[in-house]
Amino acid sequence: MDYKFLGASGVRVSNICLGTMTFGQNTFAAIPTQADEDIAFQIMDRYAQLGGNFLDTANVYGQGASEKIVGKWLSGQVRKRFVLATKVRMQMDKTNENGIGLSRRHIVESCEESLERLQTHYIDLYQSHIWDNATPIEETLRTFDDLIRCGKIRYYGASNVCGWQMQKIVDRIDSMGLNKCVSLQQQYSLLCRQSEFEEFMVCENEGIGILPWSPLKGGVLSGKFKRDENLDPTSSRIGFISTDEGKAMQSAPAWSKYRDNDGFWNLMDAMKTVADNHGKTVAQVALRWVLQKPQVSSVIIGATSVRQLEDNCGASTGWSLTQEEMKKLDESSPRVNLYPYEMIWRMNGARYNDFNRSILFN
Ligand SMILES: NC(=O)c1ccc[n+]([C@@H]2O[C@H](COP(=O)([O-])OP(=O)(O)OC[C@H]3O[C@@H](n4cnc5c(N)ncnc54)[C@H](OP(=O)(O)O)[C@@H]3O)[C@@H](O)[C@H]2O)c1
Repeated sequence: MDYKFLGASGVRVSNICLGTMTFGQNTFAAIPTQADEDIAFQIMDRYAQLGGNFLDTANVYGQGASEKIVGKWLSGQVRKRFVLATKVRMQMDKTNENGIGLSRRHIVESCEESLERLQTHYIDLYQSHIWDNATPIEETLRTFDDLIRCGKIRYYGASNVCGWQMQKIVDRIDSMGLNKCVSLQQQYSLLCRQSEFEEFMVCENEGIGILPWSPLKGGVLSGKFKRDENLDPTSSRIGFISTDEGKAMQSAPAWSKYRDNDGFWNLMDAMKTVADNHGKTVAQVALRWVLQKPQVSSVIIGATSVRQLEDNCGASTGWSLTQEEMKKLDESSPRVNLYPYEMIWRMNGARYNDFNRSILFN
C-alpha cells in the first residue's frame, strides 16, 4: 500500500481508503449485496493486513449500523494505527426537529453519538456530509474548531459542496483564524468529473486533499457488466437498483443510463485495452486513473467481499498509467467543456506559472 499526506496536514493515510457504506443494511434501499457484520470484519481484517490505515464511515450509513460495525471491529485493534473518518449533517431521527444540518447543536450532539457507536474517544477526520443552506458557515466552522480544541476530533473536512461554497469555507477559516479544513470528499470517477471545473481548483490552490467517493460509480466501472446482459437484481447494487429505477441515486445509478450509451461502451473498451496492457483489471484501471489525478490524498473504495477488496487494493502501488494512457482515458470519459472553463483553459495553455498554480486541469 502507498501512503500520502491527508491534504496539508502531517497525517499519512493509505492511498486506498476503505469506505464502509456497504456495511450493515442500507436503510434507503435494502440492497442485497450489503456486507453483514461477519463479512465486514473479514474485509477490514484483510484491508489492515494489506497495510490499509484509513476508514471512512458516516452516522447516516444504515442509520448508525456502519459506525457500530466499524467501532466493534476497531475495539479489537490498536486504535492509533488507524485514521478514522466519519460525517455529520444528514437526518438521523425524524422525530427530532433539530436532528439534521450543520448547526452547532446538531454537530455536537452527533459527534457524541458517533463517538459512542465507534467506541473511541476521538475522530480523526470529521466531515460535513453536504452543504447546509440553513446554517451560517461561520457557526459550522467554529464548531469544528471547538471540537478540535476539546480533543473530540483531530481534523475536519468537507464533502459535497460546489465551488463558491468551498472557496467560502477557506476564506472564512482564514478570516476567523481557525484550524484549516484538510480535505474535500467529492464524487469523482471516469463517469463523474464535474468537480474538476471548480471544487478541485480550490483544493489545488489551497492545499486541500481530495478524497474521491464512488470511484467505480457504484460498480458500473468495475467491468463486470456486459452490454446485452440482463442484470441479476440479487448479485449487485446496480442490478438491484435497475429493478426499481425510482431508487436510483448518485452511488447507485440506473443501468439504463449506461446500457444504451455508445460513449460509455467506448470508455469501457479503452479501459479494457489499458487493463490488458498492464495485466490488471478494469476496476484497477478506474481506481488508478483517480489516484494519479493531482491533489488526491486517497481514493475511497467500496467492497462487498474480500475478493473485491483485494482487487481494488491492487490499484494502490507497484504500477502506474502512462501519460498517454491517462490522456486516452481522459478523452474517452465524458466531460462537457463548458463556457467559460474551456475558453479560460485554452487561452491559458501557454501561461503556466509554477508560482501561481491556478490553472492545472485541461
Ligand atoms: N460523501 C458522500 O456523500 C459519499 C457518498 C457515497 C459514498 N461515499 C463513500 O465512498 C465509499 C465508496 O462508495 P461506493 O461504494 O459507491 O464506491 P464504488 O467503488 O463506486 O462502488 C462500490 C461497489 O461496486 C462493486 N464493486 C466494488 N469493487 C468491485 C470489484 N473490484 N469488482 C466488481 N464489483 C466491485 C460493489 O457492489 P456490488 O457487489 O453490489 O456490485 C461495491 O459495493 C462509501 O463506502 C463511502 O465511504 C461517500
